[in-house]
Amino acid sequence: MTTNDSIPAGAHIGHTHLKAADLDRQVAFYHDLLGFDVVQRMGDQAAFLSAGGYHHHLAMNTWESRNGESPARGTTGLYHIAINYPTRKDLAIVIKRLLEAGWTLDGASDHLTHEAVYLTDPEGNGLELAWDRDPSVWRKPDGSITMGSEPLNFQSLLAEAEGADWPEGRAPEGTRIGHVHLKVSDIDQAVHFYHDLLGFDQIARLGNSAAFLSAGGYHHHLGLNTWESAGGQPPAPGTTGLYHLAINYPTREDLARAVKRLFDNGWAIDGLNDHGTHMAIYLHDPDFNGIELAWDRDRSEWPRNPDGSVNLFGGKPFDIQEFVASADRPVTA
Ligand SMILES: [Fe+2]
Ligand SMILES: [Fe+2]
Repeated sequence: MTTNDSIPAGAHIGHTHLKAADLDRQVAFYHDLLGFDVVQRMGDQAAFLSAGGYHHHLAMNTWESRNGESPARGTTGLYHIAINYPTRKDLAIVIKRLLEAGWTLDGASDHLTHEAVYLTDPEGNGLELAWDRDPSVWRKPDGSITMGSEPLNFQSLLAEAEGADWPEGRAPEGTRIGHVHLKVSDIDQAVHFYHDLLGFDQIARLGNSAAFLSAGGYHHHLGLNTWESAGGQPPAPGTTGLYHLAINYPTREDLARAVKRLFDNGWAIDGLNDHGTHMAIYLHDPDFNGIELAWDRDRSEWPRNPDGSVNLFGGKPFDIQEFVASADRPVTA
């Protein structure tokens, strides 16, 4: 149920950033197979990828994790990233591309809200590839949401991709990060942060083992579970996994209000940067999962290279106190 304290409708996951052991291997998977465009690459240090001309949906860096191992079992961190495709046919196409490349799927499910398949990327990061049904199918008039876990009709899904591929193998506009599912040490502690402080609405709760949260009546932008990580520690330094997930706010004022609310509750930030494309404030959740709170400028304002590609490297700091104070100012048209 959306309340006055809820995160604004329109807040969503903008991108996810991974710690990589081998950048070439990761870029080959996300670019060649999943069809994301490489927006910018910093040698063997980092790469930024997107679909449909967005500044980036995915990033990966080797700053601390080059040749690193996967996080140890039982630690907190990434459970999976869900990549949502705009149509059922697009989901079928990406599955076909993976199967034809000899990739193995770990599972599949029809959640009623969305059809989904599960796999891991070359470095063991959990991935869900999904397609959302229209909300009229899964959202009741009172706003409650029907989710389930039925067997996926794989034959019917794959039939959509017969003889089809994306133009030039590129993932279509509308491909996005649908949700991120995290392994946390304690559900109450994590829900306090994401629900009480950030304002995500709690859509479903499985006792002390899992919670699903969203903005604006979506089925879920965030999953949290303790299935393997109850009482767990964050992954060791140097391991792969989640660097951060970015929560995007619809307006600059929404972002300022979110940061003010965190400060008012004694929460600190780890850093900030105005990337030109977006303003970003970095912090971590109670399990030390990296969080970026962001606001995207209009595409017409994004810094660009002479060839028209997005330039993500022109970041500059900004005054956080002044920024937060702007949350109190009346919004003028
Ligand atoms: Fe999921
Ligand atoms: Fe980021």
